[in-house]
Amino acid sequence: MPRAFLDALFSLVAWPSLESLVDGSDQLFWGVVQPLSEMTKLSYTATWGSYYRPYAQNATVTGWRRGPEVNPEAGMRALSFLQTDGSLGVIAFRGTDLNSSGISGQADACANEVLGGDKLSELCGNFSTHQLDYYSRAMEFAEELAARHPSTSWLFTGHSLGAELASLVGALRAVPALGFAAPPLKPVLRRKHLQVTVTRWSSLTLYDEHDPLRFQSKGELLGMNCSWPSTAPIPGCRACEADPLLTREVCQECFAATHTFSNYLKHVRKGTRPTCHGAPMTA
Ligand SMILES: *[C@@H]1O[C@H](CO)[C@@H](O)[C@H](O)[C@H]1NC(C)=O
Ligand SMILES: *[C@@H]1O[C@H](CO)[C@@H](O)[C@H](O)[C@H]1NC(C)=O
Ligand SMILES: *[C@@H]1O[C@H](CO)[C@@H](O)[C@H](O)[C@H]1NC(C)=O
Ligand SMILES: *[C@@H]1O[C@H](CO)[C@@H](O)[C@H](O)[C@H]1NC(C)=O
Repeated sequence: MPRAFLDALFSLVAWPSLESLVDGSDQLFWGVVQPLSEMTKLSYTATWGSYYRPYAQNATVTGWRRGPEVNPEAGMRALSFLQTDGSLGVIAFRGTDLNSSGISGQADACANEVLGGDKLSELCGNFSTHQLDYYSRAMEFAEELAARHPSTSWLFTGHSLGAELASLVGALRAVPALGFAAPPLKPVLRRKHLQVTVTRWSSLTLYDEHDPLRFQSKGELLGMNCSWPSTAPIPGCRACEADPLLTREVCQECFAATHTFSNYLKHVRKGTRPTCHGAPMTA
């Protein structure tokens, strides 16, 4: 990472507002988004599940040390990062393990059914209600860290299910969230009868323009969104956009090409800024 990007966060006592990121310099934008993307990657590779890599277990990001984490073999997983020489902190919530042959992916699939208000699959009986309530486990972790580090300025991040938890917990705790590729968020709040005061600057979600989760989330996010032009535009994604159900083959193809976090890392490494759009103020 170029030194200038790292310096963008040095000596800040609080995270810059999401508004200043969207409107501000490249240095500030990448100074925030680049380390968050590395932390989000570690949320997959340093935790139990099919993306685990031994070298990542204790790895961190330059300028940050790893803080407490939640890392069960099946259940909500999250890492925390504390600036080594400053006041900033990050929780990176982990996204879905798409390999459902192991208990990590099975628990994630069940947790997504819980969040989506869907009928639970039979194998979900293998897990406790407590274990599948990722939203509450994420809230607990955020509360615990806030109590342990009361003077830290927090920001939440994550990809997919991780972005969903980051934005929901962020909205409830008035902590800004910057996530990648979140699914629709407002339906979860409606189902849970949660009242939150969100502004367009509570949360920022970044998408690949052809990610079917972007199509599904239109009007259902809690704040701003930005999108990158697709790295390899797939013609079928236009057809998916019209009816973005992941059970449709055209959407599955589009999902496989755009939704993975490795695709998002490509966008970050390429260094082209995404185009940002305003969002409605109400939840
Ligand atoms: C990570 O740290 C723990 C605790 O210090 C240690 O037991 C483990 O071996 C380390 N893992 C790796 C891959 O270095
Ligand atoms: C899923 O995980 C299992 C081990 O639980 C592994 O054998 C298999 O290769 C993985 N499948 C994919 C598609 O990565
Ligand atoms: C999970 O539940 C299914 C169906 O209820 C069962 O067949 C399976 O063996 C269970 N798996 C584990 C790991 O307990
Ligand atoms: C992104 O913001 C624009 C402008 O407010 C909005 O029309 C669109 O629905 C948002 N996209 C998503 C995925 O919510």
